[in-house]
Amino acid sequence: MPAIQIKNLTKFYRNQFKALADLQLTVEPGQFFGFLGPNGAGKTTTIGVITGLANFQSGDVKVFGKDVRKDYRETRAMIGLVPQEFNFDPFLSAEQILTYEAGYFGIPYREGKKRAEEWLKFFDLWSKRKDGYKRLSGGMKRRLLIARALMHDPKILILDEPTAGVDLELRYQLWSFLKDLNSKGKTIFLTTHYIEEAEKLCTHAAIVHQGRVVAQDSVDKLIHGLHAEFVDLDLKTAVYEFPKQVGDVQVVLTNGGRGLSFQEKPGIVNKVLHILHEKGIEIEKVGVRRPTLEDAFLTLTAKKGAAGSDA
Ligand SMILES: Nc1ncnc2c1ncn2[C@@H]1O[C@H](COP(=O)(O)OP(=O)(O)OP(=O)(O)O)[C@@H](O)[C@H]1O
Ligand SMILES: [Mg+2]
Repeated sequence: MPAIQIKNLTKFYRNQFKALADLQLTVEPGQFFGFLGPNGAGKTTTIGVITGLANFQSGDVKVFGKDVRKDYRETRAMIGLVPQEFNFDPFLSAEQILTYEAGYFGIPYREGKKRAEEWLKFFDLWSKRKDGYKRLSGGMKRRLLIARALMHDPKILILDEPTAGVDLELRYQLWSFLKDLNSKGKTIFLTTHYIEEAEKLCTHAAIVHQGRVVAQDSVDKLIHGLHAEFVDLDLKTAVYEFPKQVGDVQVVLTNGGRGLSFQEKPGIVNKVLHILHEKGIEIEKVGVRRPTLEDAFLTLTAKKGAAGSDA
C-alpha cells in the first residue's frame, strides 16, 4: 500500500485559477521522495491537499490507503508537516509550541513534555525553551518547525523547503538527520529548490511543472533518462541572449551568462559555436560531464521562450 497516492488531482483557486491539473503521484513507504518544481508549480498546494489544509475539486488522495477527506483525522495523524512558512502561535513559548502540538494529537501531557525536552535538546533549543518564536533566529525557527512535526512520531514527514535560508553547517546537520530518520524507516517527502540537495538525499523524485507531474522515477533513472553527456562552455564575456532551444536541444545560460550548458547530440556543438561566433563571443573553456538531476529538472521544466535561466 503506498504511503501517499494521488490520482487525477485537479484544484482550482477561487474556482478560476487551475493550480493542479490531473496530478498523479505515488510515494511508497520508506522512500526519501523529492517533490521538485519551479516557483508556482503547485508543490505547496499539493502538500496542502495531502494534509487536508486545502480543498480540491476532483481526484483521489490517499495516505496509507485512507482517504484524506473521509478519514481526515487518521490521515493527518500519520503525517508530520514542516510548512514552508512559519505558522507558530505568537503567544506560546518554544516548549509550549511542542507540548500543545503533542496534545493536539492526543499524546498525554507528561509524555508530550518528555518528548519536547528531548527534541529541544536535540535541536539545540533548550536554552530558548521559554522564548516566543519571534525571539528565535531563522535557523532556530526551522529547527522548531521540524521538532513540532515530529512530536507525534508520524509515519510520514513532509518538509516544504526546510533548508531555505539555512546556513551551510545547519544544512549538513539537517541532511544527516533526515537521512538517519529515513534509514530508520520514516517516509520522507521533501520539496527543495536546491536540486543538488535532492540528488544527495532522495531515492525517488517527481518533477512538477504547471500543476502536473511531468516525470516520476528513481533519481538514478531520472538522470539516466537523459542518455547523454552534457557540455559546459565557459565564455570570455557574458552572453545575455541565447536561443533557449537549438535544434531539439535545450541550452541553459549558467554563471550569469558567462557559461552555456547543453546536452551533447550530433551536430549541436557546431551549431552553438556558430551562434556564439556570430555574436562575437569567444570560448574560454570546454568541459564534458555526466548529467545531473539538475539537468533532468531543467530539461523537464523548460518553457518555450527566449532568454535562458541563470541556473
Ligand atoms: N491561496 C491562494 N489563492 C490563489 N492562488 C494561489 C493560492 N495559493 C497558491 N496559489 C497559486 O497556485 C499556484 C501554485 O502555488 P504553490 O504555492 O502551490 O506553488 P509552489 O510550487 O509551492 O511554489 P514555490 O516554490 O514558490 O513555493 C501559483 O500560481 C500560486 O499563485
Ligand atoms: Mg511552495
